[in-house]
Amino acid sequence: MSTLRRRTFAAGLLAAPGLTAHAQVDLDVPFVVTPDHVTRAMLDLAAVKPGDFVIDLGSGDGRIVITAARHYGARGLGVEIVPDLVDKSRDHARRAGVADRAEFRVQDLFETDLQPATVVTMYLLPDVNMKLRPRLRALRPGTRIVSHDWDLGDWKPDRVVTIDVPDKAYGREKLSRLYLWTLPPR
Ligand SMILES: C[S@@+](CC[C@H](N)C(=O)[O-])C[C@H]1O[C@@H](n2cnc3c(N)ncnc32)[C@H](O)[C@@H]1O
Repeated sequence: MSTLRRRTFAAGLLAAPGLTAHAQVDLDVPFVVTPDHVTRAMLDLAAVKPGDFVIDLGSGDGRIVITAARHYGARGLGVEIVPDLVDKSRDHARRAGVADRAEFRVQDLFETDLQPATVVTMYLLPDVNMKLRPRLRALRPGTRIVSHDWDLGDWKPDRVVTIDVPDKAYGREKLSRLYLWTLPPR
């Protein structure tokens, strides 16, 4: 179980295409997809390449890990608490021909072992990012972290980029902000 008090984002969850009512689960973050061009920008920002191992925390329909495997030659793991989304992700990975390099697990992201990662991606919420921060700080030197829209408090990012998202459903700004941190040498 998460150390955070779970919030219920049932409305957002049930609005997700293809999800059925029995999939209702208490979530720390609602299901909102990263648009494809923003997914590419996140992976570009992290300079993902063959040999990388990408962990997406709260992997939704699997698009970040699948794109990393399909277009960047990486391997990866998506952890997601909604079983229906994990089923969909596995199906998408099979169709994309990357099921051997893109694994998906039903798991609470607060219980995920992050140590195998060379890249961690996140599209979460500010308080969830802050709860994860001590574990992110303990990652191996050289590991890159990319967060969509939310920073890590006073941990200064190495780069911030903005991407136009004209049809963005949330927030007043029609853009996404991407933050990059690279773990320094110990
Ligand atoms: C904003 S969506 C991001 C989905 C995907 N990473 C993307 O960028 O398209 C956040 C995801 O986190 C999942 N989630 C929420 N709480 C979680 C938890 N405690 N453990 C694992 N996944 C969680 C939600 O079901 C949702 O799919």
